[in-house]
Amino acid sequence: MIVTRRPLIAGNWKMNGLSGDGLALAGELARRIEDAADPAFDLLICPPFTLISRIGEALAGSAIALGGQDCHAVETGAHTGDISAAMLADSGCTHVIVGHSERRADHAETDTQVSAKVAAVRSAGLVAVLCIGETEAQRDAGETNAVVARQLADSLPDGATAMNTVIAYEPVWAIGTGRTPSVAEVEAVHALIRGDLAKRLGDDEAARLRLLYGGSVKPDNARELMSLADVDGALVGGASLKADDFWSIAQSSA
Ligand code: PGA
Repeated sequence: MIVTRRPLIAGNWKMNGLSGDGLALAGELARRIEDAADPAFDLLICPPFTLISRIGEALAGSAIALGGQDCHAVETGAHTGDISAAMLADSGCTHVIVGHSERRADHAETDTQVSAKVAAVRSAGLVAVLCIGETEAQRDAGETNAVVARQLADSLPDGATAMNTVIAYEPVWAIGTGRTPSVAEVEAVHALIRGDLAKRLGDDEAARLRLLYGGSVKPDNARELMSLADVDGALVGGASLKADDFWSIAQSSA
């Protein structure tokens, strides 16, 4: 079966953006995608919670999708400071990043907790962008494949489809550092992920599911990374905060 996967370029703004710069950035991207008429990629932006509703209003009618950066595993209740997937859906989101390594590190999120969040995202009718990836110590110890396979097995609940799930492979040591694995290394890990998904979901579903690479994706390395057979887009942090850089990365994926 020959499947063409439309690239997805996702911007993870992390804890960046006040209303002035955030709305200006979203507005600029909306203008560019409208001018592009028929872009060969999908764009997703994941602003901080505080800006989601206002950016959602600013993007109304635009082809740019809106996502949260995390959610709680349950829908409502006594969880001060948390946000549920249903709330994100209500605010105009279609996607939620789950299991980002900064959540795993800063908030000690386990695969089991991440799996429950992915399930919550699905229950709210949203798409989970599930992040997995090894630390530098794990890579140095030759454990990359084992760590990625274990995180995929333990943090992706059964029932994944190409419609409700995107997987982002993000080596922790590549995030915000300007370093990336070689293209051969990225290709090998993505092939491993696709192979594991095929065993769980069947060949056809696995072939349709988008696998993103994340970690220091910039305009000058995006074309090479995006040209890899099993790389179907990027999860972009720092470079997603500049319209020119994010747009250039998106164009490299087409
Ligand atoms: P970076 O972040 O592009 O700044 O390396 C990527 C991410 O954390 O998703």
